[in-house]
Amino acid sequence: APKSVSTVQINQKEFVADDYTNVTPKIISYLGRNLHLQKDNPLSIVRQRIVNYFYKSFTLRGNPAFSVYDNLSPIVTTKQNFDDLLIPLDHPSRAKSDCYYVNKDVLFRAHMTAHQSELLRSGLDNFLMIGDVYRRDEIDSTHFPVFHQVDAVRTQRKEELFADHPDLEIFEPAFDPENPHKFTNTITDPSKQSCHTLEATKLMEAQLKNHLIGLVHALFGKDVKHRWVEAYFPFTHPSWELEIFYENNWMEVLGCGIVRNEILVSAGPNNSIAYAFGLGLERLAMALYKIPDIRLMWSTDSGFLTQFQEKDIDAKITYKPVSSYPQCKNDISFWLPPTLSIDTFMSNDFYDLVRDIGGDIVEQVKLKDKFVHPKTKKHSLCYSIMYRHLERTLTQAEVNEVHKAIEKAAVEAFNVVIR
Ligand code: PHE
Repeated sequence: APKSVSTVQINQKEFVADDYTNVTPKIISYLGRNLHLQKDNPLSIVRQRIVNYFYKSFTLRGNPAFSVYDNLSPIVTTKQNFDDLLIPLDHPSRAKSDCYYVNKDVLFRAHMTAHQSELLRSGLDNFLMIGDVYRRDEIDSTHFPVFHQVDAVRTQRKEELFADHPDLEIFEPAFDPENPHKFTNTITDPSKQSCHTLEATKLMEAQLKNHLIGLVHALFGKDVKHRWVEAYFPFTHPSWELEIFYENNWMEVLGCGIVRNEILVSAGPNNSIAYAFGLGLERLAMALYKIPDIRLMWSTDSGFLTQFQEKDIDAKITYKPVSSYPQCKNDISFWLPPTLSIDTFMSNDFYDLVRDIGGDIVEQVKLKDKFVHPKTKKHSLCYSIMYRHLERTLTQAEVNEVHKAIEKAAVEAFNVVIR
């Protein structure tokens, strides 16, 4: 008899499953929704505004300097998502608990930066990459396993960067772009990569920050308060995050930095310096239009979409809740099997199960209590699940039924005992 291999089917294509496979049918069902391209979706409006800003601000002989890629397949290799970006093998972002893997070599991209190397390799110098990204995460009003990012790369050759200062250089004398592997690039100096001059790094940093503040001003107006925070990404150095002050909190909206020279060297343009950034569309759209719940982005309800049906995409729109339906809270507590402890149980596995069974009526899941029985030493966890439908009132009976189904699925998946 033929040996049976289990497979995962995605867009008419079959992939061999292995012990990395953790993508669920629910997650697969989000493929192709392309909210960032749907007319009247707030994410699409923000996308257009960002693209317009880059088209208008950067032109080359009358043509936009940036090219836009908003239709790249979200199914990528671990090489694209991690290796090409110098993300170490033991980096936490590769964990099964954080990503949706098709198998050990293929995953749903966790960031748009996954396409940076291939686009550089194809010869592009200024480009935007826009699309849906997938991450396993907690469940609340600002998190959803699928969200949307705009990533960008801008590269500059010496003649462009130092047009007014032909005496200045991008690279330190010890680095020879023609023999890049003779030099070990380091990031021990917080202010720059060892191959770059301080002048080139500082000028790129100034451009990067000016361009991004220009974007924030174009989106939110000149009054918005912002701050830069030092950050770390394996693929940029130095790196920063930009936060804006929104509803009494500092909200992180993007990560950015100077692209690690190793990436440019292996992808082609070895005589250039580049900046890169990646920003989240959901955060910006929620803040711009005062959208209170991230699940609303997925609404196909006309009461939602018609509010964004504007002829002028720069019009000031404030979302008015169609109406707000009551919440319904139910706790779930269970004893873990002896093979698991309160410290090894993977919350994200539980969240995915809740998403699969409960679907979009789950508003929030919170770990409420961890408990070790003093006598039996048995471990138990309690999560509280908040249910709310965005478009109608849920009945208690309906919620109970879903809740029961979640309990049953948890028993089967994790071998737990409901308390
Ligand atoms: N990919 C990063 C993220 O998803 C953002 C980023 C992009 C940071 C490009 C630096 C440069 O968080």
